[in-house]
Amino acid sequence: MSILPIRVLGDPVLREETKPVDTFTPELQQLIDDMFETMHAAHGVGLAAPQVGRSERLAVLDVHGARYVLINPEIVERESSIKWEEGCLSIPDMYGDVTRAGRVVVEALDRDGKPFTVEGTELLGVCLQHEIDHLHGKLFIDYLSMLKRQKLLAEWEEEKPKYPGLIRIVVPGEDDGDDDSREDEKL
Ligand code: NI
Repeated sequence: MSILPIRVLGDPVLREETKPVDTFTPELQQLIDDMFETMHAAHGVGLAAPQVGRSERLAVLDVHGARYVLINPEIVERESSIKWEEGCLSIPDMYGDVTRAGRVVVEALDRDGKPFTVEGTELLGVCLQHEIDHLHGKLFIDYLSMLKRQKLLAEWEEEKPKYPGLIRIVVPGEDDGDDDSREDEKL
């Protein structure tokens, strides 16, 4: 397994639509394993393929030890609403309150191509919606008010030089400087 470079805000790949997966090759299995390793090294709870520069419609989640591989996921039910402070591994150190559905039901394929259904509320529900957005070129900052988005983008301009080539290299075991209460917000 290997840790993949994470693409950060400004890389056009984060705004591209992904392509549905139709073949389950050893290369895909390798990508899934590498994405889990990358996400864990970055202390995240979710990671989508575009964040590592790929175009497969694939995301991985690890929400409090519950792991999911989502291939070609679709939200088939949504209800109520929840406000959550979200961050993103592709926009390090930036956070914002996002209102999303409070409960979602998602249909997807697992790593072997077998269909399954997952229902999520709270962090799992938020993470499912955040990662599925990534697969359609959408980021959490798109939900912020104009004013909050502009403020965040201005702050990001100062952070960006830390990531030459818009690439974030994650070093395993490295303290990311955030306190542990942020662990549930790196989607
Ligand atoms: Ni994200």
